Parts: sequence; C-alpha cells; structure tokens
Amino acid sequence: MARILLTGGTGFIGSHTAVALAEAGHVPVLLDNFANSEPSVVEAVGAITGASPTLVEADIRDRDTLAAVLRDHKIDAVVHFAGLKAVAQSVADPVAYWDVNVGGMIALLGAMRETGCRRLIFSSSATVYGEPAALPVDETAPTGAINPYGATKLACEQLMENLAASEAGWDLVALRYFNPVGAHPSGSIGEAPRGSPNNLMPILLETVTGRRGPLSIFGDDYDTPDGTAVRDYIHVMDLAEGHVAALEAPGEGFRAFNLGTGRGTSVLELVRAFEQATGVPVPREKAPRRPGDVPVLEAAVGKAERELGWRATRSIAEMCRDAWRFASRN
Ligand code: NAD
Ligand code: UD1
Repeated sequence: MARILLTGGTGFIGSHTAVALAEAGHVPVLLDNFANSEPSVVEAVGAITGASPTLVEADIRDRDTLAAVLRDHKIDAVVHFAGLKAVAQSVADPVAYWDVNVGGMIALLGAMRETGCRRLIFSSSATVYGEPAALPVDETAPTGAINPYGATKLACEQLMENLAASEAGWDLVALRYFNPVGAHPSGSIGEAPRGSPNNLMPILLETVTGRRGPLSIFGDDYDTPDGTAVRDYIHVMDLAEGHVAALEAPGEGFRAFNLGTGRGTSVLELVRAFEQATGVPVPREKAPRRPGDVPVLEAAVGKAERELGWRATRSIAEMCRDAWRFASRN
C-alpha cells in the first residue's frame, strides 16, 4: 500500500486513476485548482471505491503548498496530471501553457527534491512524436513538437531526463498516452470538460445529445482504408490501470512508455462502432482536414507489456458504451 499524490486528480484521467489506485489497495490524495473539473468528482470517486479520497485545493505552480502536502500526507509517489491540454488554445496563448505545464513541473520537482519524494509518473502524450516516420511508433522514435502544447510535454520530459541524470535515486516515468476515451462503467465519472471540447468523443457526445449539429469528419482523403484518419483509442480505465502498473514496477532514472492498444481505428469506424454499441445514430458531415492532424497514429505497446506487465484489454465497443452511459446520465 502506497500513498499517492494525484495532481489534477479531479480531472478526466486523474479521477479514473484514483479509482484504479484505490481498488489496488493504495491511498490516493487528490490536488487540483478546478480549472477544468469540479470538486464533486471526489464524492463520485468515493461512491465507487467506498471512501472519498482526501482533496487539496491548490495550484500546481505553488511549490510551498506542494512541499507541505508531500510532507503532511507522507506521500510515497506522485502522478502528475495537472495541466492544460487544448492544442488550439496553446497556439493562441503559449505563455499560459508554458507557465502551467512547465512551470508546474518545475514547482513539483522542486518540492519533491526538497521533501525527498523521488518517484514521479507524468502524463505525457503521443504528440511528442510529431508526425512519426514509422508505425506503430515505439519509444525510441525521434521526438519533436508540432505545437506549443507538444513543446511543453517534451520540455517536461527533458527536465525529468536531466534531473535523473544529475542525481541517483530518482524514478521518473513519462507515460505517453495515445487517445483516451470512455468512462468508468458505473457512469458516475467520465470526461466533463469545461467549455467547448476539442476531441472526437466529447464532440460526438455533444452531437448525439443535441448540443451541437452534425459531427464534422475532418478529412476523407487520407491514405487509409476508408480515407478518414486513424488513431489508437484506449479505454480510460485501461489507461488508469497502466498508472497502477507503472507505480508497482519501480525502476531507476528516466523511462518513457507508450500507453495505447496497438490497434488503430478510423474516425468512420469509431462513429459506426458507437452507433452499433449504443443504438444511437450519429448525424455527420464531411469537412476539410483539420490543420496539424497526422493521417495515422498507432502505438507500439511491447515495452509497457515487457517492463510494466500491463496491456490494454477493453474494446472499442466498451469505450463507446461507457462514454455514452456517462454522457446520458450527466
Ligand atoms: P483534465 O483537464 O480533465 O485534467 C487536468 C486537471 O488539471 C483538471 O482537473 C484541471 O482542473 C487541473 N489543473 C489545470 N491547471 C491546474 C493548475 N494550475 N493547478 C492545479 N490543477 C490544475 O485533462 P485529462 O484529460 O485528465 O488530462 C490529464 C493529463 O493528461 C494532462 O496533463 C494532459 O495534458 C495529459 N494528456 C491527456 C490526453 C487526453 O486526450 N485526455 C492525452 C495525452 C495527454
Ligand atoms: C489531439 C491533439 C493531441 C493531443 C490529443 C489528446 C491535435 C492536432 N492533436 O489528438 O496533441 O495529445 O488530442 O488531447 O489537436 N476528429 C473529427 N471531428 C472532430 C474531432 C476530431 O473528425 O470533430 C478527428 C480528428 O481529425 C482526428 C481524430 O478525430 O483524426 C481524433 O481527434 P482528437 O480526439 O482531437 O485527437 P488527436 O487529434 O489524435
């Protein structure tokens, strides 16, 4: 049993990871400033696991508070989700993205060094691969940012690598998420972003619940079997369990792992799978390619299987059913 601090713990991936950690016998402590989530998520997590986790309201850039939380709660390891994640917004306001994402990481690592907490798992992204030259993309592939959001993720990884090289005893892991979708099967926690969503599944859910018009399918002339872009969608509970596996497989230095399924699904396949799994029709229309999109992104998952003993098991149908259950209840 370990005591784990989850920064951004009331967010989409943080809340599901809190459930997975509690179910594995660990004690999650959540920290958030509610920039993109609600404090009520704590009770929803508690309703699933039987005990509401401790919640600390704080900003990830507040190093002194972070150090106090690490000490007061006797934290063994940190999972760092807190940050900003909208690519278009990062292009419009790069200073805010570097401030929260990189400034937050600097504050957190400073507090960890000060208090002697040496284990960190960081929410990185497949975006660090830019447009990969070979697929499926593995962890040795060259990295490169294609937008300010990606640049902040890469900067955080580089800082972790520099820190691990500077001093023995650090165990710093970057988990590079592919495309997380779905929700806890209870339907009581899920993805509930503030404002207008940017990703495919939350946009699709707005369409089918009548909050927006037809789903725009961005591009039907890619070099893929049906012409629409292909991504590696992963159920958020599989992703959450990947964090538990990473915490339970300690190592040394800096390590990066892909968390995906290894299977690509096109936009049209996902839309049809949603209709089949839920019986709900998805009104849709063709739209031009979205600038910055790559045609295909699929994870090589062998390293996480070998070194963490983890692999994703849930299907696209489960991702669609669980996402729909949460959306239709909320
Ligand atoms: P989310 O927005 O639901 O969760 C992030 C949480 O961080 C939110 O609860 C938000 O309130 C909090 N937060 C933001 N700024 C903060 C600050 N200054 N201080 C304290 N808390 C702050 O997003 P998510 O989808 O759960 O993503 C979690 C992490 O995973 C992010 O770092 C994101 O970049 C990364 N990631 C997400 C995806 C994805 O598709 N969802 C893919 C790759 C990587
Ligand atoms: C996006 C980000 C990526 C980030 C990830 C998770 C971009 C260019 N990339 O990845 O950096 O790590 O989210 O936050 O923004 N689609 C439609 N119609 C829509 C919305 C999406 O057809 O209304 C298509 C997209 O063109 C894409 C696929 O659905 O082919 C998935 O899109 P999305 O969910 O935004 O994820 P990514 O673009 O893969």
